[in-house]
Amino acid sequence: MFDDRSGIEQVTFRPGGSVAGPGKALAVVAGAGVGKASDSGDEEGEHVVIGRLIRRLRISDPPARFQALATNVLRASLGMAAVAWVPIEEPEEVVVSGDVEGIAPSSYRLFLPPALRDSVLVANDPAGVPLATTPASVHRFASTPAGVSGWLVVVNPLDERLIAGPEIERMQYVASLIATQSNNARIYADLKELLFGIIRALTAAIDAKDPYTSGHSERVARIAVRIAEELGMPPQKRSDLYLAGLLHDIGKIGIDDDVLKKSGPLTRDEYRKIQEHVEIGVTILKDLKKLRHILPGVRHHHESLDGSGYPDRLEGDQIPFEARILAVADSFDAMSSNRPYRKRLTPSQIDEILRKGRGVQWDAAIIDALFACRLDLEAIRQKGLGESLVGAVDGALGRPG
Ligand SMILES: [Fe+2]
Repeated sequence: MFDDRSGIEQVTFRPGGSVAGPGKALAVVAGAGVGKASDSGDEEGEHVVIGRLIRRLRISDPPARFQALATNVLRASLGMAAVAWVPIEEPEEVVVSGDVEGIAPSSYRLFLPPALRDSVLVANDPAGVPLATTPASVHRFASTPAGVSGWLVVVNPLDERLIAGPEIERMQYVASLIATQSNNARIYADLKELLFGIIRALTAAIDAKDPYTSGHSERVARIAVRIAEELGMPPQKRSDLYLAGLLHDIGKIGIDDDVLKKSGPLTRDEYRKIQEHVEIGVTILKDLKKLRHILPGVRHHHESLDGSGYPDRLEGDQIPFEARILAVADSFDAMSSNRPYRKRLTPSQIDEILRKGRGVQWDAAIIDALFACRLDLEAIRQKGLGESLVGAVDGALGRPG
């Protein structure tokens, strides 16, 4: 069948063989069912290439990183001068591995007229193809679409061979992997944005409830992470701790303003009401599956090593480790901040209180870790929200169910 728009012939693809029709420069291979490579060496090579890419298929990676890897791997395995991934969305950049004289990355987008971008194309003699957009330095090329994501172009086999079935098949696999990763990465980014928004909204709600302690949650999160670093806690657990720090007082949303903002001494009943914030916090967060792992920190950050804390009067190692760290970070920040009923304590007053409570109220090893990074803590309290939340959200999403 002859397409009179561009002098292109549509041919039937011969599995494992040449795809060019007799005397025609450009073949449009109908359908996606391009034949299998007949040579077992090719099949083996294909498995290695695809296997290597699948192992690197991470939805949390930016699509451009996987696209760069995939085009590099494909170019090396097919022996092409250049391989380009062209995303359909204009703002996304064309990713090119290799170099062909006179072709800038953006030129790959113009390589094919829009009407041909949905087809598998092979041009073993582009000189005869009346495509005004094909640069003169291109001797051979092929392109294959990947759904609505984009298309993959290979240019100039290094050994001047004809582009045939096995090459097209490998291109199709790689194109579909790129499309899959891009789509999943987009869904992942949306999910991440959502969780990010929920956490920001919740921390904003705590700050709005009690402007006097505004920023306390964020500071506790940062201090806890710095202490955890000193204790050698692995990055994933530190990310969890960061989120627990941000949300440890979320239950205060459920406490009456009259009690929460009271500047005078609290009655016994009022103190009991305030204590309820740890359980209210768990109630608020428990349905967010991706945040379940931070619940122990939220519930137990007011336990005391000697069993005099709340809500469960846990002792020593019964208190979850992250809750013990949060307890130290929480107290440190509270003592370092002004409150309606008192001014902030001086560093030496704070240190004295921490030393007295070491091994009684607070875990001795955690207090030691705080003193080991004591000089950093003031600067850490001043930092802005940033990478730590991004990393923590990534960590939370990466957890199973
Ligand atoms: Fe608290």
